[in-house]
Amino acid sequence: MSELDICNLHVNVENRAVLKGVNLTVRQGEVHALMGPNGTGKSTLAYTLMGHPNYKVTEGEVWFKGRNILELEPDQRAHLGVFLAFQYPVAIPGVTVANFLRSALNARRRAANAEDKGMPIPEFRKMLKERMELLKMDHAFAGRYLNEGFSGGEKKRAEVLQMAALQPEIAVMDETDSGLDIDALRIVSEGVNTLRGPHLGVLVITHYQRILNYIRPDFVHIMLDGRIVETGEADLALHLEEHGYDWLREKNGAVMA
Ligand SMILES: Nc1ncnc2c1ncn2[C@@H]1O[C@H](COP(=O)(O)OP(=O)(O)OP(=O)(O)O)[C@@H](O)[C@H]1O
Ligand SMILES: [Mg+2]
Repeated sequence: MSELDICNLHVNVENRAVLKGVNLTVRQGEVHALMGPNGTGKSTLAYTLMGHPNYKVTEGEVWFKGRNILELEPDQRAHLGVFLAFQYPVAIPGVTVANFLRSALNARRRAANAEDKGMPIPEFRKMLKERMELLKMDHAFAGRYLNEGFSGGEKKRAEVLQMAALQPEIAVMDETDSGLDIDALRIVSEGVNTLRGPHLGVLVITHYQRILNYIRPDFVHIMLDGRIVETGEADLALHLEEHGYDWLREKNGAVMA
């Protein structure tokens, strides 16, 4: 089993230190939740893991399958099996959901085996249909341009559809629950639970304990001011819901600005 090992990660955004020494290990088969107040660096961590050029690593390493993935291009990271569901998914006019997924899937297969001719179209269609049914998505979505005119909830479902189709080994879901109505939250969570298993490690970034009732995490981490300051089990999220973050701010007074 592989693990994603984030070691002493420091990241600057626009010349300002945002991540200040993050340590976190996500193994395949585990679900981790990452919580924390607005602006503490959760999305910065997600973008850095995928190699967004605005996020400059100043110190630290991220190991996966024997590689420091910080040295790899974003597509190489994806081919290795790291996936990010965005907090704010972007629209790609002119590219349908089906074409986008087929290109991404085939690129990953080709990276694993240069001889691969890609998934045959009938097999791809069948897989896509099954995954869309799992997420209770209207089949018409497959033919629409990716995220163009999608409602907030539809965009989040499309992110989970990508995850379901690409079958990553490590998935980071950045606020996939925000903007989902109660039914959609349950459907998306059930989708994630179906994908859950010994080969998938998940990092769920969220503000709300609610999604964690459905996707029960093995570990909950709290980020404050660019560092993980507390790690616990699922009940830590309940404690936060009740008590907020002030007790953690006080406890970590020494490291806070
Ligand atoms: N592209 C950027 N340009 C300028 N500042 C940025 C950029 N990206 C992030 N930051 C800053 O880095 C800090 C951390 O932002 P980040 O988006 O990681 O927070 P977050 O923990 O995900 O917050 P939220 O819970 O609101 O999503 C913020 O102060 C933010 O303004
Ligand atoms: Mg964020």
